[in-house]
Amino acid sequence: MGSVGNDDNIMMEEVVAGNSGGKVISCRAAVAWGPGQPLSVEEILVQPPHRMEVRIRILFTSICHTDLTVWKGLNEAQRVYPRIFGHESAGIVESLGEGVMDFEVGDHVVPIFNGECGDCVYCIRRDTNLCEKFRVNPLKSVMTTDGKCRFSTKDGKPIFHFLNTSTFSEYTVLDSACLVKIHPNAPLKKMTLLSCGVSTGLGAAWNTANVTEGATVAIFGLGAVGLAVAEGARVRGASKIIGVDVNPTKAVKGKRIGITDFINPNDLGHISVDEKIKEMTGGGVDFSFECAGNLDVLRQAFLSTHDGWGLTIVLGIHPSPRLLPLHPMELFDGRRIVASIFGDFKGKTQLPILAQQCMNGEVKLDEFITHELPFNKINEAFQLLIDGECLRCLLYL
Ligand code: APR
Ligand code: ZN
Ligand code: ZN
Repeated sequence: MGSVGNDDNIMMEEVVAGNSGGKVISCRAAVAWGPGQPLSVEEILVQPPHRMEVRIRILFTSICHTDLTVWKGLNEAQRVYPRIFGHESAGIVESLGEGVMDFEVGDHVVPIFNGECGDCVYCIRRDTNLCEKFRVNPLKSVMTTDGKCRFSTKDGKPIFHFLNTSTFSEYTVLDSACLVKIHPNAPLKKMTLLSCGVSTGLGAAWNTANVTEGATVAIFGLGAVGLAVAEGARVRGASKIIGVDVNPTKAVKGKRIGITDFINPNDLGHISVDEKIKEMTGGGVDFSFECAGNLDVLRQAFLSTHDGWGLTIVLGIHPSPRLLPLHPMELFDGRRIVASIFGDFKGKTQLPILAQQCMNGEVKLDEFITHELPFNKINEAFQLLIDGECLRCLLYL
């Protein structure tokens, strides 16, 4: 638990009552000091929120594969340190910057790395969930308002932000456009999943692909993102949901969620994955989803769809400098390919509705949290994801 000013052991009631508003907070955060180095859980300082910003107390956070990619330093442009990673979480509003009208202290909230200001040229369109100012931007590492950091070390060295959110901290500051208010009865632990991975997968099936009843689907990479696609396809009544993963333990996890068939590419011998899928589906699936972040897998996913109408949705983040492995002439076979950011959900508008669907039991989230650990074991949680042991390891702060 963090402390406010010199006052150690502040109680949650004080946080909720907003007693710390306007003050610098001292709290624990997991700081990345260099690529691939174990995160250092240490005391940091968190500034009060500026105009149109909100400071929140994070109660739960989890690790997504995107955190792994940037932590390893796989993308040159993202190498700024020290930095606080993390973008999946749920928490409570602690204090409000000037001008914030849509939140109150104590509100239950979920951060969104792909913000929604509500009135820019993008936000007013129905056909995109990007926002002019607050869209996902892996190259951004400071606050939008003034280009500065709200985090620092105890001796005043700035600590950089990540994906509009930086959730590996007991307290974080976000633009109010990057925060969604959810119903106070919604279980916050499970709501953490809606902050990235599960929303991304569900939305890719519902909004980007618009999977319809009876459709056939292949999902490449059965992490939380891929399995959320499976859940989305199951809800829509897909007739076949083929999961593809090199980790054989994902067959069991996948079948619990709704995968009807499982392929381990390493077990196939001479036949390729796309040939196998074409054989199983009479020419290819209607929709394929790439959720592994691997370009060769993306090519397999593309070729696995039916010619004439097949659609491939790219969800994986591809750190490789290689370009798309497709010949332009292949597009004339009528297969299409498109990427999906945050499942094409407009976060602020649509996440409260999704939270309600989860509360009603229309969407099942039970299988996604496979592990729970205290926040100071964050490096163990990273290892669980690296080893393919967990879908999501929930860290409680
Ligand atoms: N073929 C099939 N599956 C693969 C392959 C491959 N060549 N390589 C990896 N996988 C599988 C892994 O075994 C794992 O089950 O892909 C899955 C990826 O899951 P996670 O590591 O849990 O990642 P997740 O958080 O679900 O994110 C998936 O979406 O948001 C992006 O950056 C994220 O690229 C990542 C992807
Ligand atoms: Zn993510
Ligand atoms: Zn906008």
